[in-house]
Amino acid sequence: MSRIAYVDGVYRPHREAAVHIEDRGYQFADGVYEVIAVRAGKLVDEALHFTRLHRSLAELRIAGALADAPLKFVMREIVRRNGILNGIVYLQITRGAAPREHAFPKAARPVVVVTARRSRAPDPNLARDGVSVITIPDIRWQRCDIKSVALVANVLGKQQAREAGAYEAWQVDARGRVTEGTSTNAWIVTLDNAVVTRAADSAILNGVTRQALIEIIHREGCRFEERPFTVAEAKSAREAFLTSTTADLLPVVAIDGQPIANGEPGSLSEMLRSAYLTHISESA
Ligand code: PDD
Repeated sequence: MSRIAYVDGVYRPHREAAVHIEDRGYQFADGVYEVIAVRAGKLVDEALHFTRLHRSLAELRIAGALADAPLKFVMREIVRRNGILNGIVYLQITRGAAPREHAFPKAARPVVVVTARRSRAPDPNLARDGVSVITIPDIRWQRCDIKSVALVANVLGKQQAREAGAYEAWQVDARGRVTEGTSTNAWIVTLDNAVVTRAADSAILNGVTRQALIEIIHREGCRFEERPFTVAEAKSAREAFLTSTTADLLPVVAIDGQPIANGEPGSLSEMLRSAYLTHISESA
């Protein structure tokens, strides 16, 4: 079946779907996005994604896009028309198309794009064996809390990880503390079994997976510390892991080539991963 995309009010064959060359998303990265998991044909943690979407739009002062009810309808239609059981929905809202000029255009109206993609289940070997990460300087802007489409620093970081044979690059702030991965949040488990992740300040994206996992951590009665951790602390941690909509929760077994503990996925990470997988099947 050929894929269908929603572009600015119209459902079109994916290969023909296009936005204007002066769309501000294209010229200025002046827009926001969400990636939402689809499991068994249903959207996972939709409410959390909408809360974050509204926050991103408000921070960029993009107003007048589709209201929630029609947008939710379009997302379901895209899932249905593409016959997606397991995969992702990609939603992008830009400030719209207008002659190139940095300040907000008077006439433009937001352009909404929704696509969906089937995805194979994440490679089970990654969860079984764990993944490695490298650390790199965080060269991004100071509003990483906004899920903007300005991702070129993340693109360069992920490519650096790939070229180093690693799954992800953990970005590090000027004080030597890990902010987050290029498309994932970063976590460690300390020697005394506290689960630690950076607070959702403006240096990181507040992951929906992160938010759902914090609920699980509280429910399971685990110790939890929301604070920054350094690369040195991560390297000497008991466990480490990363989270995102597309990766779920993956154990991190090496940082910059140095094994974490015995170099195998930690038991707390495994417990949290299985609790998270239960959560997504229940949320969907
Ligand atoms: N990335 N941090 C960054 C920089 C991200 O881009 C993402 C998500 C996350 C995790 O957020 P969530 O748990 O809501 O997926 C953290 C998406 C999946 C992407 O860009 O493809």
